[in-house]
Amino acid sequence: MLPLLLILPLIAAAPAASQHQPFPVHDSRPAITHGPYLLAPTETSVTVVWVTDTPAHSKVLYGKNGQLDQVAEPQHHGLRPVGTIHSVRIDGLEPGARYQYRAVSTQVVKMKSYWPEKGLDVESPLYSFTPLDRRSNSTVFYAITDTHANLDRIAGLMELVDWNEAEFLVHLGDAFDADSAEVIWTRALDPLARALSHSKPLYWVRGNHDARGAAARELVHHVPLPEGRYYYARDHGPAHLLFLDTGEDKPDETNVYSRLNAFDEYRQEELAWLRRHVATSHALASAPFRILFLHAPNWGWTNGCQQEWEDTARAARIDLSLSGHTHRFNYTPPADPATGRHRLVLAPDQAARIEMTPERLKITVLGPKKQKIVEFEVPRRPLQPTSSPGSLIQ
Ligand SMILES: [Fe+2]
Repeated sequence: MLPLLLILPLIAAAPAASQHQPFPVHDSRPAITHGPYLLAPTETSVTVVWVTDTPAHSKVLYGKNGQLDQVAEPQHHGLRPVGTIHSVRIDGLEPGARYQYRAVSTQVVKMKSYWPEKGLDVESPLYSFTPLDRRSNSTVFYAITDTHANLDRIAGLMELVDWNEAEFLVHLGDAFDADSAEVIWTRALDPLARALSHSKPLYWVRGNHDARGAAARELVHHVPLPEGRYYYARDHGPAHLLFLDTGEDKPDETNVYSRLNAFDEYRQEELAWLRRHVATSHALASAPFRILFLHAPNWGWTNGCQQEWEDTARAARIDLSLSGHTHRFNYTPPADPATGRHRLVLAPDQAARIEMTPERLKITVLGPKKQKIVEFEVPRRPLQPTSSPGSLIQ
């Protein structure tokens, strides 16, 4: 055997000529088994998520006017992600512009230090998307809730949506009941993505049931929000949209959670974020309307902080809140329209249509036979510069 010191120079020198030899490419390709779907876009970005049957690395080809002349290809710490769940964030988009896209996955057959073995590409059909746009003067979106992995319920709700006008769908939580990743897709994301034609985005609000089950900790991979948390804000048309996570409905110490929950700490972080956001967000302060999405209308388990959440919502001058969780329809107009908010709680078999113009919100709740359960309008309130949210912003 050669001494080690002799071998090392040989190893260093020998690949110089051979290291550009082509890597193996097998005649096999992955299949897209779930998705793609579009998640929680901003005015300049969107996330595309899909699943393949075998490990692959992925990218999204996209562009305007049918020209897929741009590419979004993720890297994490200098490496192309390789796996079966694919999440590609597209940035630098033009607000309100129409884009087309294809999801592309290239099989990785065998990972090795050198010359990992590859396969061929699979491409999704051509789909489209439109980023949000706060300059939009007239917009419509729909909200549903509490589908609880019930395919018949999802199918019925999707019939209530006029997809010609809907720009996006908000699911107000308790979607997954997830014992496995397969359930996450087959009983929630797949039917929703099909209804959305893989071309209109989904906003999902986490419900208490979504935080339970063997796959609850995997949800972040299948619903990968760019903020890395389930509470965030967006702007579209005349509205500032606040998506909150009301966590669980019982204390962390309740034995049903076997000491595996830490919602007290999480919700405190969320409340601190909301307070900062309300105090500093110019977008929140200047939007004609503020809409709050929260699964549990009573804020979930807050460890005694419910009034602090309410006070923060009041400081935010929320015009309308949309919730589920109770499985009972309820609409409560504000006692004082100048300061309070319209509170709407949807039943699981209802869809809310929200039409937004700079002058008013128009809300229609549809029942299972498309009958109107309630219809009301929220007029634009005058700005209150001295006490308005965002007044701390410099
Ligand atoms: Fe719930």
